[in-house]
Amino acid sequence: MFDKTAPIGVFDSGIGGLTVFEEIKKILPHENLIYFADSIHLPYGDRAIDEIYQFTESITTFLKEYGCKIIVIACNTASAAALYKLRKLHPTFNFIGMEPAVKPAVEKTNTGKIGVIATAATFQGELFKSVVERYAQQVEVISQPCPGLVQQIELGELETYKTEEMLKKWILPMIDAGIDRLVLGCTHYPFVIKTINKITQNKVEVIDPAPSVARHLKSVVEKNHWLNNQSSIGNKTYITTGNTNEFVFVTSKLNLSLSNVQQAKWDKLNIKIS
Ligand code: DGL
Repeated sequence: MFDKTAPIGVFDSGIGGLTVFEEIKKILPHENLIYFADSIHLPYGDRAIDEIYQFTESITTFLKEYGCKIIVIACNTASAAALYKLRKLHPTFNFIGMEPAVKPAVEKTNTGKIGVIATAATFQGELFKSVVERYAQQVEVISQPCPGLVQQIELGELETYKTEEMLKKWILPMIDAGIDRLVLGCTHYPFVIKTINKITQNKVEVIDPAPSVARHLKSVVEKNHWLNNQSSIGNKTYITTGNTNEFVFVTSKLNLSLSNVQQAKWDKLNIKIS
């Protein structure tokens, strides 16, 4: 018998996937949710694709053993490195992955030029190539990696001078080149949307895919009749492979107050709650 009360697992390299997790909480309030942050290996975006894949395979095993009914890879980098492979390896299990929201940007652009900011690894993966091939044949896509930005966000430096200067260096040339839509291709980046809007002076529409990923998850859960029918609000559990105090501290800077934060440790390629 399928257990509808089983949790939905959501993972990322760090706090970025919380942008997706927050949207899931809003539209699936009765679901039990687990958020897994592989903080010790952050940033994924500077790592080799194969290494990222190894991490995601172990996290998948961990979340399946935890009893998750579905897994959301709330990380563009991990999706780029692993989504196709994980689906092959676990053919009867459901994964929701992320791809940069090029499609809605292409549908809305008036200038025929869109910008995408993401990690270097996301741009290297097959997934990004396939998204551009599928949706962006008729427009110009300017791809801009943002090395170091994830680390700034993990420090809670959302509006500091350094973060703003980094963003200016990447975004202003794209505006000069004529983009009118900017896709946030990393789940960390919505945390700096205020700073991005300050730089673009709202001349560019910034596209955050988190709400549509949450809606997609909801439709998959509904279609499969997996909705948790309990009337109470679902439990939320947060697990980090990094330091729990640091995790709680930085999320409080993002105005998120988390309870039930646990630590997991890597033991070679296995993950154990400590
Ligand atoms: N949040 C991740 C993403 O969506 C990347 C963070 C990292 O580089 O670890 O791509």
